[in-house]
Amino acid sequence: QNKFGIAIEDAPRVYEKASKSDFLKITGIDCHIGSQITDISPFLDACDKLLDLADVLKSKGIELDHIDFGGGLGIVYEEGQEVHHASELVEALHQKMENRGYGHLEMIFEAGRSIVGNSGVLVTEIQFLKEGETKNFCIVDTAMNDMIRPTLYQAWMQIVPLHVYPENSPIKEETFDVVGPICETGDWLGKDRKLKVQPGDLLAVMSAGAYGMTMSSHYNTRLKPPEILVDGADDYVIREREKIEKLFSSEHIVEL
Ligand SMILES: Cc1ncc(COP(=O)(O)O)c(C=O)c1O
Repeated sequence: QNKFGIAIEDAPRVYEKASKSDFLKITGIDCHIGSQITDISPFLDACDKLLDLADVLKSKGIELDHIDFGGGLGIVYEEGQEVHHASELVEALHQKMENRGYGHLEMIFEAGRSIVGNSGVLVTEIQFLKEGETKNFCIVDTAMNDMIRPTLYQAWMQIVPLHVYPENSPIKEETFDVVGPICETGDWLGKDRKLKVQPGDLLAVMSAGAYGMTMSSHYNTRLKPPEILVDGADDYVIREREKIEKLFSSEHIVEL
């Protein structure tokens, strides 16, 4: 059991009830099985279950127009990771639908991350390098309020320096925890990263196009960064850097 939707075991009873309502029109089955799923087999298993349900509904005279497979297809966060392509998923599901006599139903996908995840990077500037007794810290000007995935659910995001120093450079590669400037131990973006960097360098936090800005907040009265759309050699500001006046504009001071 979880808080989402209704359990598949309860679905026939709910569909039957809905089919008797004057106010409801049954159009299909919609599901969402999870997130960052890199293999297509869980989607195929889900499809089998949904089609079993469709069979049960058909036997009760309930016809469907669509099956919605939700989102959840994963993306490559780390080089070498294997992820099935969306076209393989669609083809395999389509085949299964056809084989089981449901080829006529509309197939709906709610792909989120797999469309936009790798279309965005979060660029941040190194403020300070702090040598610790057991660890080095690379303190950057972006924080958990801008990208909460690492601290919220230990997501691993690739962090790439935008300046590459030559082999013989006096700047040496070291291992750092990349952390934000907020006064929270949980304010980190990456742990144990080998970086050849110095203050002022820019870092790109990769795969930030999904669950980045949408999950951002104003925690610690921090302003959200601008969003820049890059189209070939052209770039456009599609969301302006926030101003502190805007953040406080809806607040009222009450004089008692
Ligand atoms: C119902 C539903 N559809 C689609 C999505 C998008 O998921 P993803 O970005 O993993 O493709 C979500 C995400 O939680 C969801 O809850």
